[in-house]
Amino acid sequence: MKTYLVTGAAGFIGSNYLKYILNIHDDIKVVVLDALTYAGNLGTIADDIDNERCIFVRGDIGDAELVGRLFATYRFDYVVNFAAESHVDRSIENPQLFLQTNILGTQNLLEVARRAWTKGKDETGYPTWQRGVRFHQVSTDEVYGSLGVEGYFTEDTPLQPHSPYSASKTSADLVVMAYRDTYKMPVSVTRCSNNYGPYHFPEKLIPLIIKNILAGKQLPVYGNGSNVRDWLYVEDHCKAIDLVVTKGRDGEIYNVGGHNERTNLQIVKLTIATIHRLMEEHLLYRNMLKKQVKNADGSISIDWINDDLITFVKDRLGHDQRYAIDPSKIKAELGWYPETTFEVGIVKTIEWNLNNQKWVEEVTSGDYQKYYDRMYGNR
Ligand code: NAD
Ligand code: TYD
Repeated sequence: MKTYLVTGAAGFIGSNYLKYILNIHDDIKVVVLDALTYAGNLGTIADDIDNERCIFVRGDIGDAELVGRLFATYRFDYVVNFAAESHVDRSIENPQLFLQTNILGTQNLLEVARRAWTKGKDETGYPTWQRGVRFHQVSTDEVYGSLGVEGYFTEDTPLQPHSPYSASKTSADLVVMAYRDTYKMPVSVTRCSNNYGPYHFPEKLIPLIIKNILAGKQLPVYGNGSNVRDWLYVEDHCKAIDLVVTKGRDGEIYNVGGHNERTNLQIVKLTIATIHRLMEEHLLYRNMLKKQVKNADGSISIDWINDDLITFVKDRLGHDQRYAIDPSKIKAELGWYPETTFEVGIVKTIEWNLNNQKWVEEVTSGDYQKYYDRMYGNR
């Protein structure tokens, strides 16, 4: 049986990963460590925690005493580090928090793991390591900076981050690699492109657009909407991480992406068109619209769900133009490929949002904090 410490699993990708591994592995035990910042919501994982297979602990990855105690109690085999400040726009407002959590928090986890997992020294002075352990860092394609119209990020592309967020993630990757090179620590890193899917916090592009359309609000597109992202359905990312954690080679970096490049304008227009089609097909969904416009015959109008909702707003500072991943390495070594096409994934994502409006309201109203207090008091 393997015991996991999964950090940041009350957030978007971490919660999807937690559900994924609990579903596909019978013989695991998981401790979730999450600080429950604005982006972490206990309601997302309420059905997965507090049982013999999964325990939730609220806390900061930078808290050495707490992380040390957890290691001593649970003797983890794997650390999978999702915990991070993850929003580029927020990093432009408050860079220091990103450096604190993403760099120093990661280093604290590495250091506690190093002390727990090393057994002695070999004849050359390097530490000897407990067998079968692994520190996995969940990283991003944003560490590579920005591409022009051609080319792809490979694992050998030089690191050239631009935003405070991507600079902090790059720094964390470098610290992970320093532990690999200095102590021969068994580590791995995945660098993934933009994810979308269930439990995506509605400050990011796709869930924000869905939320605004349902409310009849304008859809803010930065600059001229020509920036390109390589979108991957979140479950495909979770599968990639699981493959790397359990079967990947020690010390390796794996790029993860779906060859699904779209401009932001294409994403927004496709989301508008898909919501329009779903509304046309299902009266139930039309009833969920927060903005209700009536036709002359009293039926619900959806004519207003069109590209006129788009509004071009001031561009993001230092806005990276294009990201595109070459996932050949993970495909060749671990047989990974993206299973969900964007056409299927965007429908699933929109339907999930429509069917989980309570979740969307909870995470945006701060009600989840009341839920936490009700469920857990001061723990
Ligand atoms: P998210 O913002 O939705 O979730 C982050 C989680 O970390 C939250 O639950 C939050 O409470 C927790 N957290 C924040 N600071 C913490 C701290 N100091 N201690 C403990 N927990 C803390 O983020 P996400 O989109 O799910 O991203 C998860 C990871 O994947 C991040 O490391 C991010 O850099 C990386 N990543 C994200 C994407 C993407 O498209 N969202 C793509 C590639 C990589
Ligand atoms: P985002 O979802 O914040 O992810 P990231 O910045 O990590 O790629 O943004 C995706 C793209 O969408 C990015 O180019 C910025 C753009 N964007 C908008 O045009 N409008 C918005 O309201 C948001 C949040 C993002």
